[in-house]
Amino acid sequence: MKEDEVYRMIASQEPESTQGDSPVELPVSPEIRKRALDPVFIGEMAEPDGYAHVRGDCGDTMEVFLAIRDRRICLARFDTIGCGFTLACGSMAMEMAEGKSTAEAMRIDEHKIAEALGGLPDSHRHCAELASEALRKAIQDYLFRGKESWKKLYRNL
Ligand code: FES
Repeated sequence: MKEDEVYRMIASQEPESTQGDSPVELPVSPEIRKRALDPVFIGEMAEPDGYAHVRGDCGDTMEVFLAIRDRRICLARFDTIGCGFTLACGSMAMEMAEGKSTAEAMRIDEHKIAEALGGLPDSHRHCAELASEALRKAIQDYLFRGKESWKKLYRNL
């Protein structure tokens, strides 16, 4: 995706961001711009230990794939059909989760993601909620299946 397309995508997400007829750019931190343009940690995993697919109220979706050893997240990847802010939030959530224990990663909430990104516009705080919820549900998926290993057999049904 070209840089100007991403900027347009970020700016177009704010329905109230107009003065008269001309759109007003949202305040976007350098960290958000960087990750919207190049969302590191994006990708999929064939057989994740934890997986979640979450749809937000806005219709955007996020998938999270986790590789976990001894309750520590060694690899975290995400994929999304969403806006530039969602790309940035997913990328940051995965970076924050990698290397953490599942208990520590469960505490990565929307406030921590937004803070690590240098802040989010109010109208896009829900993008961080989508990322934190998807991460939390992927960890819960791992914990649930870990306790009842026979359920791994039915994971792909
Ligand atoms: Fe809905 Fe980003 S606009 S998650």
